[in-house]
Amino acid sequence: MAPKEQNLLDNRDERLSNFYHVVAKSADIDESPTPISILDKDYVFFRRDEKIVAFEDRCPHRGAPISIGKFCDDYIECGYHGWKFSYDGGCSEIPALGGDATIPKAARLSAPFSVEERYGLVFVAIGEPKAPIIVIEEFDDPNFDTGYLEVFEARQHAAFLADNFLDVAHFPFVHSSTFGDGEDKVVGDFEISEDGPGFVATYEHTFSNREDPLVSTGQHELLQRRRLTYKFVAPFQLTLRIEFLATGGVNTIAFFVTPTAERSSRLYSILVRNDLGGSKLAMGEAVAYEEKIIIEDLAIQEAYNSKGFPLGATGFVNTRADRVTSTFRRKLREALGEDTSDE
Ligand code: FES
Ligand SMILES: [Fe+2]
Repeated sequence: MAPKEQNLLDNRDERLSNFYHVVAKSADIDESPTPISILDKDYVFFRRDEKIVAFEDRCPHRGAPISIGKFCDDYIECGYHGWKFSYDGGCSEIPALGGDATIPKAARLSAPFSVEERYGLVFVAIGEPKAPIIVIEEFDDPNFDTGYLEVFEARQHAAFLADNFLDVAHFPFVHSSTFGDGEDKVVGDFEISEDGPGFVATYEHTFSNREDPLVSTGQHELLQRRRLTYKFVAPFQLTLRIEFLATGGVNTIAFFVTPTAERSSRLYSILVRNDLGGSKLAMGEAVAYEEKIIIEDLAIQEAYNSKGFPLGATGFVNTRADRVTSTFRRKLREALGEDTSDE
C-alpha cells in the first residue's frame, strides 16, 4: 500500500494570502518604492498621502518589476517600455502605440492591497483577511516601555517557528545558557480557551527569580509564582505575557512570523515591559537578551530539513505536554479551511 500522503504546510501555500503578515517596520516605508517578498511573490510598498500602498511588483506588459520604475506625482512609469499607470492601478499611456491608442483592459497593475499600520509595524493581507491583527493591550498602556528586536531571517517554514514560540518543554534544553537553567522540565497543565481563529493558553507555576533584587535582601522568596499567557491568532501572530506575581512585573513579547519564500521566514518581535522605568539602557539590554534567546531557538529550527510543517494529527507524536502546540496546529488547520474531524 502506498504511504499516506503527508499534509504539509509550506511557506508558499496560497491559503496564507488570506491573512495578515508583517512586511516591514512602519519607519522603513517612505515615499520611495520598497520591494518586499511574501509567500514567494514580489510586492512593492510605498507611502502616498501618509498612507502605505502596495501593488504586486509586476508590470502587466512584460512583467518587469514596477519598483524600478519612476514614481511621479500622478503616475508610475514602468522602467522597461514606459507604460504609465495611475495610482489606482489603471494604465493611462502606452508610448509605443502613440497618442490616441485604445488601452487594453488587462493593462493594469494589481488592485492595491489593504495595508494596516499597528505597533510600529506594517501588516498586509493580499486577499480578504480571515483573522484580525492580534491585540497587544500592553502596547498602548503608558506604564509600559517598548523595544524592537532585530529582524531575523530564518531558513525555515513559518509554522515551525510559531510552534516553537508556543512550546515550553524545550526551555531547559535549548535555553540552558540563558534562562532555561533550572526551569521545570515537567510541563504543567495549561488552561486553553479557543477564540475564533486563535486561542489563549495560561499556565501558572513556581520558578526561581534570580533577577529580583529583593531576594538577596530577604524581602522576597527566591521561589516565586509566575503566570504565562500565550495568545495566538492565525496564521503566525503570537504574544507571550509573563507576569511575575511577587513583583508585579509584566514582560510581554510579540512575535510575528512572515513566510517570505520557500523555507524562508522573517521574524518581527516587540518587547513591552512595565518594569524598566523608562530606561533606554535597560530596554537595550533586555532586547539584546531576547535576541540571544531567539538565536538559540533558530539554531534548532533551521536544522530541520523539512518540506513543510505537518498539519495532520499524526504528523508528529504528541503527548500531554504538547497540548498548546497541538491546539496551535488544529486551530491553524481550521483557519486554513481544513476539516479537523479526524483529530
Ligand atoms: S514591461 Fe513594463 S512597460 Fe513593458
Ligand atoms: Fe525558545
